Amino acid sequence: MLRSFIATFTTVGLALAMHGTAFAQAPSPATATAATAPDLVPPAATQGGIQSANIMDIKPEASLEPGYAKQSNAERGKVQPGNNAPMWRQVGAGVEGFTSYPKDTAPEAGILIQPFTQYPGSRLTNAGEAWRQVRNGLIIPYGGALLLIVLGGLGLYYWRLGAVKLDDAPTGRKIERFTPFERSAHWANAIAFSILAISGLVMAFGQYFLMPIIGKALFGYLAYILKNAHNFAGPVFAVSLIIVIFTFVRDNMPAKGDLNWLLKGGGLFSKEHIKAARFNAGEKVMFWGGAFLLGIIVIASGLVMDKLIPGLSYDRSMMQISHMVHAVATVLMMVVFIGHIYLGTIGTEGTYQGMKTGYVDDNWAKHHHELWLDDVNAGKIPRDRTAVAADAVLATKSVQV
Ligand code: HEM
Repeated sequence: MLRSFIATFTTVGLALAMHGTAFAQAPSPATATAATAPDLVPPAATQGGIQSANIMDIKPEASLEPGYAKQSNAERGKVQPGNNAPMWRQVGAGVEGFTSYPKDTAPEAGILIQPFTQYPGSRLTNAGEAWRQVRNGLIIPYGGALLLIVLGGLGLYYWRLGAVKLDDAPTGRKIERFTPFERSAHWANAIAFSILAISGLVMAFGQYFLMPIIGKALFGYLAYILKNAHNFAGPVFAVSLIIVIFTFVRDNMPAKGDLNWLLKGGGLFSKEHIKAARFNAGEKVMFWGGAFLLGIIVIASGLVMDKLIPGLSYDRSMMQISHMVHAVATVLMMVVFIGHIYLGTIGTEGTYQGMKTGYVDDNWAKHHHELWLDDVNAGKIPRDRTAVAADAVLATKSVQV
């Protein structure tokens, strides 16, 4: 009992010192009306800080008397000099003290710890502890397991069934699949995503798989660097994702045949050939579910944690909720994009060439997007959109000359 009291006392004392927060004589506006406010004034013995030398002398049970729990700090200090338990009781209840931090940037700086609450079905705890339990007991183990299962499943699929190969030999005829603008937007977004994914994984899981190998000191530096990289890559990802969404939205609109494609899983397991337009139904699910829906959730919660949305009150509960939303949505997003990256690289022959060079061979188009190839051959879609656009610009210029 005494040990845990001392531990709590010391921890909160350290927190107090680290936050540079001082409970001072003048109660803040929020507490001025509270009957308990004057209790926040430390007794003369502890003015200006907590004297840890007194901690060992504290024997709460020894002086228990009726109504001791209602004693003010000053009253308690008379019978037990150095024992400011009444103040800490109020700290635990969420009573606000004075702090020099500006209210608009640190709305809760005067509150040392969130108030303790009895959540249904749980022991007495506070929101900070509840958040910690959700993070460490649910998000980390289940999120980590999901990512490992997906990676393992794809590894197993590749090992047993291999990449999807093209049926025919290259024809030598090329179609422009992505313009330079489309590729720049995609790669800017993909690079930002990779930085975010790697840094996010190290921040969330690094203490389990990296710290035992590289040690605490090196891991500390690494996590610090990656946390800052994460904060900077986030806004780049947000802007580039919006550009990607506008760039590809037209060809990701649902169309006839998409449901059939989905029901047959794109023929991935049956090896049946299913015709698709420029983007198949699987890519459309990735686009709307992974990039659009999860993208909005991930970006919004990330911007809240970066304190970049004006007009919000960035208190602890806002940070805890946005962290949990962000963590769940990013794990799901990584699951979607691990699949996307697999199919865009080693999973299907020739697909990566399209995003790397901008051009694909007719045999690739026939195998994966035959309806799109039909439109190209019918002249509905130019074979080389960039060349057509360049010709149009030249034609306008020569008319002007
Ligand atoms: C990080 C590694 C990534 C790689 C290697 C990669 C690779 C590729 C490849 C090869 C394609 C062409 C697919 C085709 O021709 O049909 C593609 C398309 C696409 N990628 Fe990625 N990608 C990556 C990350 C991302 C990310 C992070 C996003 C968005 C959040 C994204 C969004 C898209 C979109 C929207 C398309 C067009 C297909 C569609 O709209 O359905 N990619 N990617």
